[in-house]
Amino acid sequence: MQTITIKPGVQTRAYPVFIGAGLLRDAQVLQPFVDGGTAMLVSNETVAPLFADKVRGLLGGCRVYTVNLPDGEEHKTLDNMARIIDALAENRCGRDTTVIALGGGVVGDVAGFAAACYQRGAGLVQIPTTLLAQVDAAVGGKTGVNHAAGKNLIGAFYQPRCVIADTDTLHSLDQRELRAGLAEVIKYGLIRDAGFFAWLEENMEKLLRRESDALARAIEQSCRHKAAVVAADEKENTADGGRALLNLGHTFAHAMEAALDYRALLHGEAVAVGTLMAADLSRRMGWLGGGDVARIEKIMGEAGLPASPPAAMTVEKFLRFMQMDKKSRGGKMRLVLLKEIGRAQVAADYDAGGLHATLRAFTSGGRRGGV
Ligand code: NAD
Ligand code: GLY
Repeated sequence: MQTITIKPGVQTRAYPVFIGAGLLRDAQVLQPFVDGGTAMLVSNETVAPLFADKVRGLLGGCRVYTVNLPDGEEHKTLDNMARIIDALAENRCGRDTTVIALGGGVVGDVAGFAAACYQRGAGLVQIPTTLLAQVDAAVGGKTGVNHAAGKNLIGAFYQPRCVIADTDTLHSLDQRELRAGLAEVIKYGLIRDAGFFAWLEENMEKLLRRESDALARAIEQSCRHKAAVVAADEKENTADGGRALLNLGHTFAHAMEAALDYRALLHGEAVAVGTLMAADLSRRMGWLGGGDVARIEKIMGEAGLPASPPAAMTVEKFLRFMQMDKKSRGGKMRLVLLKEIGRAQVAADYDAGGLHATLRAFTSGGRRGGV
């Protein structure tokens, strides 16, 4: 087992991210973090049949209540967050209850937000079961739900007591979901570690075959990067980048997700397309060389990720939803762009003409056409 410590800042207590195979067979990993005698196990209709009994089995002596949400990004809503709050209240749970989020990033974000709000803060443990959630969503304390007007518009920063990433859970993951998780792994290489990016280029086949050493290394490296970023800028306040850099490609991605009612693309797929769009704009601005753009296109292709937005996306839809991005300041959009592989920057002074050219090139009728 690898343990990575997240030290979010002076106001927030540090906590461990445990990474390894078989962690859901070991009660000693989870039990110390469930101290009030009551747990609310939140999962969904797909993940609960796979792992909920295992987790319940680790909680001997504890009262365990359960909420299973419907599966899908379109269910990451205030209504479903309220269902968790209702279950906590109906069962007269106190603030010393531990909410255990068992599932991918959707369950983690909704359950985490419910824990943040219930009685102004119940306990929270994240047990991520997708690659994307193990490398990103469960770590670092962003919680929340979507709104019709924009992705993750409602939420809170709320750190868990621990994160338990049992790599065995990934065996049952659909290959498309594994690929989507790789988009966020590639992101860490692109924004802050050219060496890791080169390692991913070398090892993509092993990752797609789920070779355990390769997956463990990718998860560990990703969590180390996330830990460093969150330690420096827990609440995304740093003006010149900091945590916002983790949003590479996300302004484009979130616009696609929201404009298409959270149904057309998986989050990681949207991030992959958004990253290609950010790379394209970076090249148009003279920041990123053509060779680097080609490497990014190649690795995304090898990971089996889409290269173009769905055909329903238009320039107008992109712009409408991109303006709701949470990184905007004073009404001005800010974009995460690449200087080179391994180095990113938040830009408020991006080239507006270049952005329009990128949007035209990636939407129907443009150079790439739709998918
Ligand atoms: P997801 O939660 O929808 O899970 C993907 C699919 O895999 C679902 O159908 C789920 O039921 C299924 N699944 C989960 N674990 C499984 C397993 N072990 N075996 C079989 N099936 C399994 O999607 P995701 O990609 O995990 O997360 C995406 C969400 O995470 C988005 O809402 C995104 O905004 C959010 N996110 C949050 C952060 C953050 O910092 N909080 C960071 C990145 C992404
Ligand atoms: N995934 C973006 C962040 O955690 O800040």
